[in-house]
Amino acid sequence: MEKFPDLMQKIISLSKRRGFIFQGSEIYGGLSNTWDYGPMGVELKNNLKKIWWKYFVQEREDVVGTDAAIFMNPRVWEASGHVGGFSDPLMDCKKCKKRLRADKLIEEYREKSEDATLPENWAGESTPPEKLLEYIKEKEIKCPDCGGNNFTDIRKFNLMFKTHQGVTEDSGSQIYLRPETAQGIFVNFKNVLQSLHLKPPFGIAQIGKAFRNEITPGNFTFRTREFEQMEIEYFVPEKLWKEKYAELEKLSWNFFLKLGLKEENLRWREHSKDELSHYSSKTCDVEYKFPWGWGELEGLAYRTDFDLKNHTKMSGQDLSFQDPTTNEKYIPHCIEPSFGADRTVLTILLDAYNEEEVNGEVRTVLKLNKDLAPIKIAILPLCKKEKLTSVARDVFGKLKSNYAIWYDETQSIGKRYRRQDEIGTPYCLTVDFDTLSDKAVTVRDRDSMEQERIKIDELEKYFEEKFN
Ligand code: GAP
Repeated sequence: MEKFPDLMQKIISLSKRRGFIFQGSEIYGGLSNTWDYGPMGVELKNNLKKIWWKYFVQEREDVVGTDAAIFMNPRVWEASGHVGGFSDPLMDCKKCKKRLRADKLIEEYREKSEDATLPENWAGESTPPEKLLEYIKEKEIKCPDCGGNNFTDIRKFNLMFKTHQGVTEDSGSQIYLRPETAQGIFVNFKNVLQSLHLKPPFGIAQIGKAFRNEITPGNFTFRTREFEQMEIEYFVPEKLWKEKYAELEKLSWNFFLKLGLKEENLRWREHSKDELSHYSSKTCDVEYKFPWGWGELEGLAYRTDFDLKNHTKMSGQDLSFQDPTTNEKYIPHCIEPSFGADRTVLTILLDAYNEEEVNGEVRTVLKLNKDLAPIKIAILPLCKKEKLTSVARDVFGKLKSNYAIWYDETQSIGKRYRRQDEIGTPYCLTVDFDTLSDKAVTVRDRDSMEQERIKIDELEKYFEEKFN
């Protein structure tokens, strides 16, 4: 990572220049921390989601999918604990007016000073705000921006976005934008179980948008207020949780390696007791070494029977499972691997970025895994002459049903190669004047830059081998 000290800036600028990610609503001056995926970004993100779905759902006997609505009955969020517990303790520095998260300030202080003490009545997210403030005063913790130590009272700020359904805007019509996709799975547990006659252990997967009114969004698409999650709720009898947790741990790790991420940039980190979310009794995160430090990519949480038990209570519906062979009846426990799609896209871009010197010039290249690459093959006629472009378009027609192809006849061939390197296209295929007589094209490999002459008739077989 040290190889490119300004890597993040390079990725932000490449993302705009080459159509991966743009600032949201840019022509109106933007809307802070919103990002739009451009033509290359949407292909990359779709490829990531496809790989995830194939690996975690289609290739497994024990996982099925759902796609639940974003709007849910607001009682879901009472049962899940999000109405009561999904909030950050906020306060302002009276001197510089900086808005701060009291829990983060304490965390940073404890890390720096190696002070192991905790605020009185410490209960993680649910610690009473006045106890946090007492601790901050007692330890004389200062504002990180101005060094002041005079703060306002702490207010609990709920992270859920609220809106209204229908024409009235009274409290009866208030609903939330879901802050995690997981609850859409829990509320469908019984439907899925009954419609497919499943028996734990089994998992239900979902990919979709989630929304959180984050206090401190930032680092490009790392922390945003609207983002996409890829989640599995894996249901098990309680006695199996440790075994299945270990299996999901291995699967998760191998998923990131499958994406081609460098293993030395990945690590597991277990949450300490005081850091656990309200629903979890064990969580380990896969973290990536981002330019600003280690950051979470995936959380693997043991949610016990917290969710199904609470939904049973709140809805009055029986969400237990009765084993037809033993007649044993129980509420399944749940292990949850939860991935961020946008965060993973950012990670893929950072990890794949490379600069190489070629003939005294810098070549920027995204060394993307071929399955992730937005474009698989670029078809480049040497010039715009009809006799070359018509062959190039025929080749396009031959390959288009199996690969994402880019056809480009503008500018010099060197510039076109550079453009394709920057978006990580594994192969460029050039149609030149020799093609007219030898019925072959030049195929250039992105990473080695080696070129091979391949007969047009053999291209389908050639790429079948390259992409398998
Ligand atoms: N259902 C459990 C859950 O939502 P989480 O750790 O809050 O757990 C899971 O989120 C994943 O979602 C994270 O590992 C991260 O990849 C992604 N994520 C969470 N908040 C995000 C945000 N504000 N912006 C982008 N991605 C986010």
